[in-house]
Amino acid sequence: MLDVKNTKLYISYGIVGCGNMSQAFFGRLFKDNKNKQRRVIMTYTPSNTRAHELADSIGGTSVKNLKYLNHTEVICLCFKPQQLKRFLTDAREIDFSGKTIVSILAGVDLKTLKEYFPNSPIIRLMPSMPVENGQGISLISHTDDVSKKVLDELELLSSKHSMVIKLEEKLFDKLTLVTSSGPAFVYYLFASFAKSLEEAGIRKDNSKEIIHKLFLGALSMIKNDKRDVEDLIADVCSFKGVTAAGIEELGRQNVSESILGAIDKGVERSRELQSEVRSDLPNLQ
Ligand SMILES: NC(=O)c1ccc[n+]([C@@H]2O[C@H](COP(=O)([O-])OP(=O)(O)OC[C@H]3O[C@@H](n4cnc5c(N)ncnc54)[C@H](OP(=O)(O)O)[C@@H]3O)[C@@H](O)[C@H]2O)c1
Repeated sequence: MLDVKNTKLYISYGIVGCGNMSQAFFGRLFKDNKNKQRRVIMTYTPSNTRAHELADSIGGTSVKNLKYLNHTEVICLCFKPQQLKRFLTDAREIDFSGKTIVSILAGVDLKTLKEYFPNSPIIRLMPSMPVENGQGISLISHTDDVSKKVLDELELLSSKHSMVIKLEEKLFDKLTLVTSSGPAFVYYLFASFAKSLEEAGIRKDNSKEIIHKLFLGALSMIKNDKRDVEDLIADVCSFKGVTAAGIEELGRQNVSESILGAIDKGVERSRELQSEVRSDLPNLQ
């Protein structure tokens, strides 16, 4: 049962878009609300299915009409950047004045958001999927008019499940590629190691377990050892040994450069996405 008197103390949220990232991030952030029922949270998706799913897991209410979001203080945009145009049309009955916008849209900058929500303080937030297991990284940039109350609360809630990095927006896209896209790059490396075992005839589930332990062990050294990563590599390589032969091949194949290139490609795509979204949005003139 929602305790209406108590909910007044807590900032109310409207979550628009309840796909993979939204479920992972807000599902984790507001998990406690399911039992405590302290906070008003409304969720919305066009099909209502996933909005209902998320609302159910965080003690919120799924709404079928965006106008109900007029009763919330913070509105979180959690759909694909390409869906912003449709949202702006559908959200005409919302009075955004004074409501804080929290956007997790990749590639859409604060300036663009401010043009479409001129009377709203804006927070750009970029979570990462491992937040689902309390191991995320969340980037935050914001306009100057964001209230300390909203910012502090979002930072506090996020920091329980992720490392929070507040940064200048000019670094946002680059960091996004490392911290939010990064898990996919790590899984790519993981899959390559696992493939080498599978090619040797080891079952897929066993390969996964072995490579998982390999990553955990290697990461534990990085966490607990004061030496630089380069020194840790050198320590595993004995002169003219088997590891040294493998590491030399990685150098010959320019794997490090390839990874830097992959990050740069992603940053380039963020910029393209931003121009695509801007050219698709209604003209404000
Ligand atoms: N995936 C990641 O690791 C990651 C990391 C950081 C940030 N992001 C950002 O998170 C955002 C969502 O990504 P995702 O992977 O979660 O996408 P997703 O799984 O495809 O979910 C998109 C959600 O948006 C809803 N939606 C579609 N059109 C809408 C509209 N016009 N108005 C309101 N809601 C609408 C969809 O509703 P239905 O359920 O009805 O289809 C769905 O619930 C993207 O902007 C992305 O840049 C993703």
